[in-house]
Parts: sequence; structure tokens; C-alpha cells
Amino acid sequence: MQIHETAFIVSHYRAQFENISKDPYAKLWHNPKTAALLPDILDNVSPHEAIMHCVRNRFFFEQLHDFFKKHTKGTLINFGSGFSMYQYMLPDHVLTIEIDKESILQFKERKIVEWTQKNKLPQRTTKYISLDFNLQPQEEIVSKISSLLDNQPNFILLEGVLFFLSPATRDKIFAVFKALQKSGDLIGSVSYLPEVENTAVYQRLLDYFNANNDLNDSFMHQTTPLSFYENLKDYTILQQSSELETLATFAPTHDAPEPSECLNESLYILRKN
Ligand SMILES: C[S@@+](CC[C@H](N)C(=O)[O-])C[C@H]1O[C@@H](n2cnc3c(N)ncnc32)[C@H](O)[C@@H]1O
Repeated sequence: MQIHETAFIVSHYRAQFENISKDPYAKLWHNPKTAALLPDILDNVSPHEAIMHCVRNRFFFEQLHDFFKKHTKGTLINFGSGFSMYQYMLPDHVLTIEIDKESILQFKERKIVEWTQKNKLPQRTTKYISLDFNLQPQEEIVSKISSLLDNQPNFILLEGVLFFLSPATRDKIFAVFKALQKSGDLIGSVSYLPEVENTAVYQRLLDYFNANNDLNDSFMHQTTPLSFYENLKDYTILQQSSELETLATFAPTHDAPEPSECLNESLYILRKN
């Protein structure tokens, strides 16, 4: 498995409970090769991955929806955007900047143009920036993104990405966020708390990646303590939640998994001071 396949997998998950994820477009990314991997992941890691990703998507969708209702000309900056489709569920005046590896974004842009022409997607303005967070210097990342910004409020999303990065790269991209944001701008972030490292389900996730990393792709497996967010002195934590908590909010009739049996990532909304 390579990192880009994780983006396909997340889309497959989101399409499985569309009424909960509120993403009617995730299914466009259906891909037989990745779909064939799912039974193995659900059997060997956790059977609850699809619903957990759907409530995560819903949590950020609701946050984005509220932000762009207030800031009608705002910008969504999606770091490690993969195949996420939020802008197609948001008002059409939102500008979206997507940042990911070149192979992902080239493929994504081509498919988006095709589906928009075929009226499978509504028209939206998206700018794509290909880069590798590990390799590109901080100043270059800031300068590439800043050149596309027009001084409007922005919401930075970092969903499903921190796990794959090193602590040094994490620190670098949070310094990038600080440079791109003004007071009142928001960050949405997802990460695992270090406590999960002691759980059998997290060890099964690592075993799965280790056993299936046949091309030696650069998988890290980073966890992030709450203190990392608390110590960002230019930011205040507005909300801190978890996938299990959001499951109770957005899918109250769905049987909640035992905490020891699911990968329960933490979800954060931070506001620039
Ligand atoms: C699990 S996917 C999540 C995609 C999307 N955020 C979502 O929630 O649907 C992880 C994404 O992070 C991107 N990514 C991981 N490491 C990266 C790096 N070093 N530079 C740029 N993108 C990276 C991958 O290419 C992939 O699209």
C-alpha cells in the first residue's frame, strides 16, 4: 500500500453511510483495487472504520458549514486533501486550496474537471498546490499558498494526515498555519492521543501498515498529545472531541463500538488568537 491509497480508502468509508457523512460525492472515487483491500482492513484492524470516518467527516462538515455561513467569501485550505469533497457541499463562493502530493492532485484535478463537465459535480473554484510536507521548506510552502490568498478569513483543515508525518514535519506545518492565518481564523485537526499506542486495535493498525507497505512508502505512525495543541501559544482550543463522541451526536441510533475495539481519533478546532 502507498500513502495515496489511504485517500481512496477514506472515500470508500465515507460513501458507506452517506446520510451520516453528508458526502454524496465520496462514491465517485470508488475504485475496485482499493475496494478489494477493505475486507482485509475491516477484519484485521477494526470493523468500525467506516462509521468512524463518516462521523469524522460530518464533524468537520458542520464546522466548515458554520464558518462559511459567517464568512461568505472565506477560503478553505485543505492540507493533505486527498479525495475529500467538502467544497461541493459548501456554498459556491468559497475558494478552496488543496495541498497534497503531486500524483494525488494531478489525478484529482483531472477527475474533477471531467465530473464537473458531465454535471456530476457543481461548479466550484479550487486551486491545487502539489508538494511534499516532508521535503518542502516552510518558507516555500507559505509563499506558494499566500500567493493564492486574498485576505479573507480562512479555515485550515488537517484531516487524516498527522498520523503519517514526523514530529518535525508536524511542527513545520503548524508554523506554516500560523504564518497563513489572522486572528479568528480556524484550524481543524485530527490526531491520535499517545494513550492509544497501548491498545490492541492500534497495534493491529500498525501491523497492517507494516505488513502491507510493500513499496517502502514513507509511513510514520505519529501520535500527538493534547499538550501539543495546548502549547500552541498563538491558538486557543475551541473544541476538543473524539470520533466516539461525535458518533453519539451524529449517529445516535448506530450501536456504539466498545472503546477498546475501535480506532478513536481525537478531533480539534483551534482559533488563532
Ligand atoms: C488518509 S488520507 C486523508 C485525505 C483527506 N484529508 C481525507 O480526510 O479524506 C492522507 C492524505 O495525506 C497526504 N499526505 C500524507 N503525507 C503527505 C506529505 N508528506 N506531503 C503531502 N501530502 C501528504 C496523502 O497523500 C493523502 O492524500
